[in-house]
Amino acid sequence: MASVRQSALRVAQSVPKTVDPFAAEVIAGLAAKPKRLLPKYFYDAVGSALFERITQLPEYYPTRCELALLRAHAPAIASLFPPNCALVEFGSGGSKKARLLLGAAATIEAYVPVDISGDFLQQDCAQLRREFPRLAVHPVVADFTSPFSIPSQVAALPRVGFFPGSTIGNFEPHEAAKFLRHAGVVLGRGAVMIVGVDLIKDTKILCPAYNDAEGVTAKFNLNVLARINRELGANFDLTTFEHHALYNSKQNRIEMHLASMRRQKVRIQGTTISFRAGETIHTENSYKYSVESFAALAQGSGWSPLQVWTDGQFSVHALRRSDEK
Ligand SMILES: C[S@@+](CC[C@H](N)C(=O)[O-])C[C@H]1O[C@@H](n2cnc3c(N)ncnc32)[C@H](O)[C@@H]1O
Repeated sequence: MASVRQSALRVAQSVPKTVDPFAAEVIAGLAAKPKRLLPKYFYDAVGSALFERITQLPEYYPTRCELALLRAHAPAIASLFPPNCALVEFGSGGSKKARLLLGAAATIEAYVPVDISGDFLQQDCAQLRREFPRLAVHPVVADFTSPFSIPSQVAALPRVGFFPGSTIGNFEPHEAAKFLRHAGVVLGRGAVMIVGVDLIKDTKILCPAYNDAEGVTAKFNLNVLARINRELGANFDLTTFEHHALYNSKQNRIEMHLASMRRQKVRIQGTTISFRAGETIHTENSYKYSVESFAALAQGSGWSPLQVWTDGQFSVHALRRSDEK
């Protein structure tokens, strides 16, 4: 990240009119070596809808496994929640998994879905209010890696964190630790948090999940370039970039890249980015853990493991902020 930040500074000096953080981070990431884009930028309304399609693909086991675990263990999970609590979901997307907890835990008084994809979030909340008329739904459009305010209406309620989807795997392990500490501050003393974590497994299962036959994951990956064209007036030719997803077994992570199929130059807000033939933009990591390695990460980041549910493919961890018994 240091090199990305240094590049951001250099680019900011050479492009004085770039003040939009999206533009600044995109240009800095593409000026860095190797080129990279942050995965949070996948999620505009189109990206969020494509992610929902990914979750329904036959190859994409994580959603199916996590939903089955949550369905089977919802009563045990709900029994850990304090009375009259607010469920705070980090990166709620379509809130499908939250719906299972909301149905099982009568103790949830309010739901606070936090997501960077604002339009998609508002639509989902309108639907949730129809489905759960007695539930207070208070969406927060924010980047969950930065400080954000909990809505004042629920500020006095005890909070339970929910971070499913193995979104935690998109962080480098040291960033995941930083996020867990930050979540501890957001949720408060004694909080419980439920985290969905994908497990290390055979590449025969892992790789197809990110290389589906229908090409939806490729569309999702390429959408970040389409978004940069739409929002920043860039001129990426999407037909000249290819989706690559591979397993890096040394780091236990799936890597997604966009490879330029030829030598070319792309213009973004007055900056020219050059690509060699075959050069890639690293767009996402999805780290895989063992049950033990994730529990150790949580323990080192201010959380005590309470319980874990697993089917051997995926794991759902219940954690309690360590400063409380
Ligand atoms: C992998 S999806 C998981 C969605 C849902 N929780 C699930 O389990 O199916 C990640 C979600 O987190 C959101 N997201 C990603 N990075 C974010 C960030 N930095 N701040 C807030 N939301 C973010 C995305 O918009 C997306 O809805």
